[in-house]
Amino acid sequence: MTEHLKMDKIQPRLLDETGQGAITKPTPRPEGPLKVSGTARYAGEYKAENMAQGYLVRAGITKGTFKIDRDSVKDMPGFLGLFTDHMIRNSAQGTANTNPVQPGPQIQYLGQPIAVVVAETFEQARHIAHAVKVDYQREDDATPDFSTATNFKEQEKKSLSQGDLEQAMADAAFTVDATFTTSPHNSAAMEPHTALATWEGDKVTVRGSLQMLKYNQNELADSLGIPAENVRLLSHYIGGGFGSKLGIDAACVSAAVASRHLGRPVRVEMHRNNVFEAVVLRTPSRQRVRLAADKDGNLLGVGHENWQSNLPDETFSEPIDTATHFLYGGDSRTYATHVARLNRPASGSVRAPGEAIGMLALENAMDELAEAAGIDPIDLRVRNIPEVHPESGFQYSSRSLAQCLTEGADRFGWSDRKAPKERREGEWFVGMGVASAARTNILMESKARVTLNPDGTALVETDMTDIGTGTYSILSLIAAEMLGLPSDQVTVELGDTDLPHASGSGGSWGAASSGSAVFLGAKAIRRKIAERLGCDPDALRLQDGIATGGNVRRPISELLDGPVTEEGHIEPGKQEVTQAGFGAHFAEVAVNSVTGEVRVQRMLAVMAAGRILNEQTAQSQVWGGQIWGVGTALTEEIQHDHRTGHVVNNDLAEYHVPVNLDIGDLDVLFVDERDDYANPMQVKGIGELGISGAGAAITNAIYNACGVRVRDYPATPDKIF
Ligand code: MOS
Repeated sequence: MTEHLKMDKIQPRLLDETGQGAITKPTPRPEGPLKVSGTARYAGEYKAENMAQGYLVRAGITKGTFKIDRDSVKDMPGFLGLFTDHMIRNSAQGTANTNPVQPGPQIQYLGQPIAVVVAETFEQARHIAHAVKVDYQREDDATPDFSTATNFKEQEKKSLSQGDLEQAMADAAFTVDATFTTSPHNSAAMEPHTALATWEGDKVTVRGSLQMLKYNQNELADSLGIPAENVRLLSHYIGGGFGSKLGIDAACVSAAVASRHLGRPVRVEMHRNNVFEAVVLRTPSRQRVRLAADKDGNLLGVGHENWQSNLPDETFSEPIDTATHFLYGGDSRTYATHVARLNRPASGSVRAPGEAIGMLALENAMDELAEAAGIDPIDLRVRNIPEVHPESGFQYSSRSLAQCLTEGADRFGWSDRKAPKERREGEWFVGMGVASAARTNILMESKARVTLNPDGTALVETDMTDIGTGTYSILSLIAAEMLGLPSDQVTVELGDTDLPHASGSGGSWGAASSGSAVFLGAKAIRRKIAERLGCDPDALRLQDGIATGGNVRRPISELLDGPVTEEGHIEPGKQEVTQAGFGAHFAEVAVNSVTGEVRVQRMLAVMAAGRILNEQTAQSQVWGGQIWGVGTALTEEIQHDHRTGHVVNNDLAEYHVPVNLDIGDLDVLFVDERDDYANPMQVKGIGELGISGAGAAITNAIYNACGVRVRDYPATPDKIF
């Protein structure tokens, strides 16, 4: 039996009735001890009998074609094969289900995987890959540089114009017209992409490091030209994804191809440089933000135009203006997206694609407007919260933005904020900044199978993934809540495409989507128990192994003659509503008056994301977002050689993610909220909400500290003094 729900109307608050309080309760993740003791095995830690090792050959030119001289290496020790068919060009999503592979000999960026060498050992394969002779036919019209790019094309479907922004700017008492730039980012997950492929007949099993297994199964099947049911993917533990593992990767495709040729298992590990070159990066961006306000700071108009880049033929563009559409009012509104085609690694989703960089520009511009109008930045934001979506006219499903801003101000001590340069401690200027947080909320189709055993244990099965976000934990808590069990009696099996297909982890939809499927499966079990007990399912109470309904009361073990298994299935429906998570970010920074060094002393995030699942893992997600904010604002930038597009800082030594010393005190507060439109649990995504706006609070604090407005991210010391 399947309990199916399409979310096209408001759902009753079913979870409240179970009364256990399990799902919100701060709870350590069940797989934590396995991870910290090194016993949780990641893809690259698996071996297979008679396994060979593959190593990727990377393109040494920016644009052109190549011929590879297999004979130049075939007698080297350990050589088993060299394959160039079906080499994956990139893992950009968007093209993924139609053309994820690049079978031709065309090179479009330096570092593109062009072949896989397979040998008996990893060291042999690496040695051969570096020795192989490649003949290149260079094409000299490569365009790798963003700052001098001229081939921008407007993406007309993403443009919008409402009212008359020029007129609003002319009529306004206060205006901002500012251009911001952001640099490319790498997801920089701890675990590099690896894959182990094994064929049995015409079926292949691949252990990989992937965020969305059902989607990836289709991609790999397309790449190999076989039906999806002949592909099995396994991804039990994933050492971070952040978008870089949304799509299938070169490791999976090349391992599967090589293994098919050789008739033995092949493992391919992408090394750190591959991860920086052959996995999607966040696009660089140039963003022009215009704000027009009347004398009281009420917005008359908003403009947000952006310029970004991708490889030729890629359909993805980052939705940079997403939050600008729904965050603040103003009748006149203009948006445009322009994409340049550049010969450098593909642009794709990196954590909170859209809001993560779009809100840097928007929330800085709001700070500039507050300054120009002489209005407190919190008051300015609160007074510009619109009644309804300023373009569609849809109402908001839930929105505690004003509460987040004002409660945050109290908690953070905002009233102590001074004018720029007024707070000085030794050689440091100290200041505070604020930014709104907003991230669109999405529900994705998901299925899960739930089994309740007479001995009071339960099993949850779905091909959902846990990329370090806490999926194992929250799914066990939801089942525990619904079935009245301690959460340690619930086993959660994830990461196997043989299990019912879930949303996968991406876009901060994973917990709500897969969690709703578990919720529905457990709900069907509750109905069955209620039937056997002879009570109304709504009156059923399950606790400590006892089922109670009205005045009947029986041990669950007596009601079950064996395991009960039900499947839950959630689907998004059509809703005319604006749905997003909201919040407020606060930062206090010290800026060194001599060197321009910035230290983040403390941050506060006040988040309103519907019902919060497991406050402990949710808090960790927000911490992660705040830390991303520090990286985005201060340290992270991919440097491309402007002549070749080469990723110069292609490792974790040179690509500067923040470390512990870069992070001050992090404080997180959740606002009590439910979202009736989101899903039956009333939860919204939290992971990417934590990053959206976080960096802007830091640069706004830099301005408040020292009076310097940095519009070119990251705000490295050279840009400050
Ligand atoms: Mo996220 S960038 O959708 O993994």
